[in-house]
Amino acid sequence: MTPWVVVVVHAPWYNTNSTHKCEGESIWKAMEELLYKARVDIVFSGHVHAYEQFTRIYDKKPNPCGPVYITIGDGGNRDGLALK
Ligand SMILES: *[C@@H]1O[C@H](CO)[C@@H](O)[C@H](O)[C@H]1NC(C)=O
Repeated sequence: MTPWVVVVVHAPWYNTNSTHKCEGESIWKAMEELLYKARVDIVFSGHVHAYEQFTRIYDKKPNPCGPVYITIGDGGNRDGLALK
């Protein structure tokens, strides 16, 4: 019935770019378990002007039942890419 469960957030919960590091931390702590239990497949975020993709992950460790996290903040912004 529901082949894919997709979530969109603003600030990324997983981000290795030094720009905006840890800014999604409080909402991540509050909501990651909820998304995991809901069997979310993909979490898209923006905020960091870069592209980054993680493997399926939960609680900062690879987990085949966790969502894939993808930052897609590189497209369509006027300020250019994150530089750090
Ligand atoms: C952050 O993102 C920018 C833009 O994509 C990239 O050039 C830079 O290497 C990234 N920095 C890190 C630490 O990944």
